[in-house]
Amino acid sequence: MYDFEKTYAAYLSKFEEALKKYCEGLPEKIPTLKQAMVYSVMLGGKRIRPVLMLAAADMLGVPSEEVMPFAVALEWIHTYSLIHDDLPAMDNDDYRRGKPSNHKVFGEAMAVLAGDALLNAAYDLCFAQCFKGEKYVRASKYLSEAAGENGMIAGQSADILWSEKEQFTEEDLRFIYAYKTGKLLVAPLAIASILADDRGFLELEEFGRELGRLFQLTDDILDVTGDFGNLGKTVGKDKEEGKLTCVRLYGLEQSRIEADLAADACLLVLERLNTDTSFLRDLVHFVRERKK
Ligand code: IPE
Ligand code: IPE
Ligand code: MG
Ligand code: MG
Ligand code: MG
Repeated sequence: MYDFEKTYAAYLSKFEEALKKYCEGLPEKIPTLKQAMVYSVMLGGKRIRPVLMLAAADMLGVPSEEVMPFAVALEWIHTYSLIHDDLPAMDNDDYRRGKPSNHKVFGEAMAVLAGDALLNAAYDLCFAQCFKGEKYVRASKYLSEAAGENGMIAGQSADILWSEKEQFTEEDLRFIYAYKTGKLLVAPLAIASILADDRGFLELEEFGRELGRLFQLTDDILDVTGDFGNLGKTVGKDKEEGKLTCVRLYGLEQSRIEADLAADACLLVLERLNTDTSFLRDLVHFVRERKK
């Protein structure tokens, strides 16, 4: 019998096993650099992006070994984005995943370099897949676009630059959400679909966009209502840093309503997919109700 939590745990443990191996395989030219890279990666986290990729692959009949290098590359990119996001020059956060942030342990310079090196390591993994054929090239390119200046980095830039604004619009918030968070949540679904010869591509992309919005709505809400024990990061940071968040734009109550609407939008897209979407449906509820 299908059970959401057990299925999530099964994807997670499959991923963790592969991740550990890939991390062990990273070069050790400068041991401190490797330590800094592996420190943040192995602190854990929800691993929702790789879980999404494995689940979508499963749903589309793609073996997990096929997507695994991309899942690892994506988690490395996500982790680099968190290391840099926590730097004093960005959000200035001392904790991440329940432990001191990378720069608190290794210093700012090494945190910058560990992030850079994780990004390069991710592309190295992708390049190693490309000889297998065109799909793998497309999957790699999809990831690099989602992470780059037309993807997550655009969102992070807007997040930083627009914190100076006195007034901001719903359009600003939607842009920040779609890019800083949405792009790396669409990528695992799109990549699984590319490897499945584009099955369900448009629907999965659209689902990922709605899920990205839901994910950042709940992230902003949890920054106000959550606790350190669950989140593993400092709460109340967004107000302190003058961030453009849903709570600032809509207020807390309306933000919760927006999150409900975003969850409904996710579920609606899933109805258009011609396959068993139980896990993705439950994942939507999991994200809406998450405490961490
Ligand atoms: C945090 O991502 C950054 C955002 C995009 C909100 P996660 O909430 O997925 O962080 P981890 O990977 O579980 O630590
Ligand atoms: C960060 O958004 C998104 C990234 C691309 C890292 P936040 O700044 O809200 O993420 P947290 O709250 O620090 O995890
Ligand atoms: Mg940030
Ligand atoms: Mg932050
Ligand atoms: Mg946040």
